Amino acid sequence: MEFQTIEASYTSKEGCRLVWKGVDEDDTDVVILNKNELENLVEILKKNSTGEVELEDQTSIIRVNSDVTQFMLTNHPLLEVKTSIIQDRVLEYAKVPHEPQYVYIGTKEFYPSVWIRDDKKTQQETSKKDSKKSLIEAILSSEPEKIRQDLSPTDIFRVFSTRRSTRKFEKTKVEDWKIDKILSAADVAPTAGNFQGFQVYLIKNKKTKEALVEAANKQPYVDAPVVLVFCTEPSRVKLKFPPEILEKFSLQDATIAAAFSLLAASGVGLSTIWIGMFDEEKVKRILGTELRPSSILCIGYPDKKKPPKSRRKLKDLIKVIE
Ligand SMILES: Cc1cc2nc3c(=O)[nH]c(=O)nc-3n(C[C@H](O)[C@H](O)[C@H](O)COP(=O)(O)O)c2cc1C
Repeated sequence: MEFQTIEASYTSKEGCRLVWKGVDEDDTDVVILNKNELENLVEILKKNSTGEVELEDQTSIIRVNSDVTQFMLTNHPLLEVKTSIIQDRVLEYAKVPHEPQYVYIGTKEFYPSVWIRDDKKTQQETSKKDSKKSLIEAILSSEPEKIRQDLSPTDIFRVFSTRRSTRKFEKTKVEDWKIDKILSAADVAPTAGNFQGFQVYLIKNKKTKEALVEAANKQPYVDAPVVLVFCTEPSRVKLKFPPEILEKFSLQDATIAAAFSLLAASGVGLSTIWIGMFDEEKVKRILGTELRPSSILCIGYPDKKKPPKSRRKLKDLIKVIE
């Protein structure tokens, strides 16, 4: 991996993104630095000295040596760059303020503290045990399963089964890297023809959030630390189908993207409330867009953890057509 560039952060004016380029054209690794981390790095590089910058997850470290600067990231291969190169680029970057920019987020971005457990062994054991049963038989005969305590917090099945809506958020700021992760989850969601027939608005402005509360039937939690509005954008879907089909595709695109973001938020220890009840015309006016809003996703740290809600039995949910 070769260090490529430093660019403005996706979510804030103060941080930055350091991009390494891989072998393939769209293969990149990105390290996101927040305001303090960037300032600490600038401090070391300015003095021409060596030192370390601890990252938000408290285990990842940037080690500035005299020759090479190493990015020692949790569960991620070591990234390196010549110190002279990073010094030139970072100090040049830090000279002027930068606006957050819309950038493409690839799937291989680095986000601190996301721990992926190697579950291969467990999977092999499970598939051996259930090899004689079809999946549908297993689903229909299954009893509610106790959540395994040894699953990684980011195990997708744990995220599914422990996720709960929250209507009361702590005031705590959500870290930029978590917001990036939530946005990149929307970006990698499947879409009709891969045309990504949707648009996401990240609402940072307090007054806009308050206006959205009003537009959403005065639901107060719409004023959450992170508010995303997912809109349909059928004109992006370049498929030869009637307009109503393109509308349907873009509504599905926007909805699945929002669901990916919702799960990503849960995966990084946040909680969400999905808002479907709002006045579409009011929301359009507030955002200054002609795009139709499909859902508002409000995200933050929950004030308390809640146990999963019960659902109907799987055998009532699934009808098997033989
Ligand atoms: C399409 C949709 C629309 C929703 N709209 C609202 C809403 O406007 N206000 C609200 O408080 N919750 C809303 N919810 C959240 C549901 O009430 C919540 O997901 C449901 O009660 C299940 O609880 P759980 O998410 O904690 O499992 C909506 C959920 C969905 C999927």
